Amino acid sequence: MSKLDKNRLPKHIAVIMDGNGRWAKNKGKARVFGHKNGVESVRAITESAAEIGIEYLTLYAFSTENWNRPKAEITALMTLLVLTISKETKTLNKNNIRLHAIGNLDNLPINCTKELENAIASTAKNTGLNLILALSYSAKWEITEATKLIAKKIQDNEIQLADITEDTIQKHLCTAKFPDPELLIRTSGECRISNFLLWQIAYSELYFTPTLWPDFRKNDLEEAIISYQNRERRFGKISEQLETDNNS
Ligand code: FPP
Repeated sequence: MSKLDKNRLPKHIAVIMDGNGRWAKNKGKARVFGHKNGVESVRAITESAAEIGIEYLTLYAFSTENWNRPKAEITALMTLLVLTISKETKTLNKNNIRLHAIGNLDNLPINCTKELENAIASTAKNTGLNLILALSYSAKWEITEATKLIAKKIQDNEIQLADITEDTIQKHLCTAKFPDPELLIRTSGECRISNFLLWQIAYSELYFTPTLWPDFRKNDLEEAIISYQNRERRFGKISEQLETDNNS
C-alpha cells in the first residue's frame, strides 16, 4: 500500500459526516445511538488530523436543512453538541487545537451558543489544528449573507459596484479567514455535496467512501489523503504545463 507523503499534505480537509442513522439502524438501534458513536469518530478524526499535521479540519455537524428533522432528533443532536463541546474543551487545549464555528449560530439554542463561545474563547490562543464546526450552516445561506453585506456596503457608498471581484465575495463569506479545502470527504456512499462550502470547493478534490461515519477512523482518513496525493491537480491547465511549472 502506498504511504502518505508528509510533504504534500492538504492544508485543509472538509468532511461531510454521513451515515450515523444507517449505522444505528444496521444494529437495530435508534438514530441517536448512531450520533453518539459519530462523536467518537469526531474525536478520533480530530486527533488524527492533528497528529498527521493537517492545519484546518471543517466538519459538517448540522446543516440548515437538518432543522427539518424530527424535533426529538434535533434536541438530541443539540444536547450531544453541548455535552461534547463542554467535555472536550480541556482536550482541545491539551492538544493545542483551536475551535471555530461557521453557520447561522443565532439559530442554535442559547446554551449551545454559550458553550460554543466559551470553547472558542478558551482555545483562541492555540496554534495547532484549526477545528471548524459547521453548525446550522448551508452554502446558499452563507452566499446570501455575503451578498447582503456587500450590497449594504454599496448602499452606504463604502465600495463601488465596479470594485467587486471574486476576492470581495471570498472576504465576506464566513470562511474568510480560512484557506479553501483541497480535499472534501463524504462518508456513507452518498455522492453529493448537500449545500456544503459550494464556493470554497471550486477546485477541491472530492472523495466519497462507503464507510459510515461512526466507523471512520485514522486509517480511513489516511486512505483519503493518499487518494488525494495520487491525483493530478491541474486547475484548468494541461499536464505538460504543470511539469514546466514544477521545474521552474
Ligand atoms: C449525518 O448522519 C450526521 C449528522 C446530521 C450529524 C453529525 C453529528 C455528529 C457526528 C455528532 C455531533 C457532532 C459534534 C461535532 C460533536 P445521518 O443522521 O444523516 O445518517 P443517515 O444518512 O444514515 O440517516
